[in-house]
Amino acid sequence: MKNIRDLEIGGRKLLIRVDFNVPLDDKGAIAQDTRIRGALPTIDYALAQGAAVILCSHLGRPKGKRDEKFSLRPVAGHLAGLLGRQVKMAPDCIGDDVRAMAASLKPGEVLMLENLRFHPQETENDPEFSRQLAALADIYINDAFAVSHRAHASVVGVAAASSQRAAGMLLQKEMDYFHRAVENPRRPLVAIVGGAKVSGKLEALYNLMDRADKLLIGGAMANTFLKAQGYGVGQSKVEEELLATARELLDKARAKGIKLYLPVDCVVADRFAADANRKRVTAQEIPPEWTALDIGPATVALFAEALDDAQTIVWNGPMGAFEMDPFSRGTMAMVQHVAQAHALSIVGGGDTDAAVHKAGEAENISYISTGGGAFLMLMEGKVLPGVAALS
Ligand code: 3PG
Repeated sequence: MKNIRDLEIGGRKLLIRVDFNVPLDDKGAIAQDTRIRGALPTIDYALAQGAAVILCSHLGRPKGKRDEKFSLRPVAGHLAGLLGRQVKMAPDCIGDDVRAMAASLKPGEVLMLENLRFHPQETENDPEFSRQLAALADIYINDAFAVSHRAHASVVGVAAASSQRAAGMLLQKEMDYFHRAVENPRRPLVAIVGGAKVSGKLEALYNLMDRADKLLIGGAMANTFLKAQGYGVGQSKVEEELLATARELLDKARAKGIKLYLPVDCVVADRFAADANRKRVTAQEIPPEWTALDIGPATVALFAEALDDAQTIVWNGPMGAFEMDPFSRGTMAMVQHVAQAHALSIVGGGDTDAAVHKAGEAENISYISTGGGAFLMLMEGKVLPGVAALS
């Protein structure tokens, strides 16, 4: 995979695919700009080299129709503030007006195209749409790690339609960190997997069984494993159809000598609400009418011990319903332990990222990925379509 630094970009026009799919608050303002800041090194580098920069991105899921609520205009304004220079806003991402704006763009100038997903052809990876995007520039750069698991036009089709293509610095950095963490790790490698569902993480769990030395499972998905071992889990969410699969995974871990850790105690609640009654019970004693919403202190101690000699830690998915303070202790404690570990620590996924920030430990994690689905796809051992398209 070529990198932007490998190309002669001075005086050329670059089409840079970024992922500015940022969270917006209820007034439509940008609630978190991590992804915009993540693209700055590539944009700054391109401008410093004397390139003209055309940025394209999606925002939300407008389902192929124009919807002003998903306009990238506010993002362009925010980016202008961060860059300290003007960012021109295009009325669309293809069409005559956009072509004219791109054609007149000068070295050192920035043009932001309107939301790619205002056109159904984007998610369909339509060749003609890809060609029109590619025709706006001389060189295509993918710096959108977080959407590189989608085989969409601006991620895959446009790469093929461009005569020159390369990775931006953010994409490169994400791939490098992931490689260091999972493909070629310093051992022991401890993987922490949490979140709501086993089904969404199944392939990642299988792949991690082949790579990690220890696997820590928390969050609601742990309930399916607990039930598979014959424990009653009360009203906790369980994927009944995956009980056999969970047993198979437990057997596989045993056969391969991988240390698999499950919660030994939980914080249970009589309702799914922050003000519910709650208590701590062992994993064998979840009462029939109660729901497990967090790992308990004994589990935190056990997991912390598992992290003790870790050289590398990869983490995706919270340990409980951490968005409600009474059920955030397990996740917050795990953030502290990961942050304090003398290990390369890589965290991915929106919820885990939010948990790290909520705990105020972002500075103490080696790398926080900007990806959710893309990070998970790497954990599954797959090649991202956006990365494959650059090779
Ligand atoms: C993300 O936020 O994970 C990426 O921007 C991809 O968005 P999508 O799930 O709507 O394709």
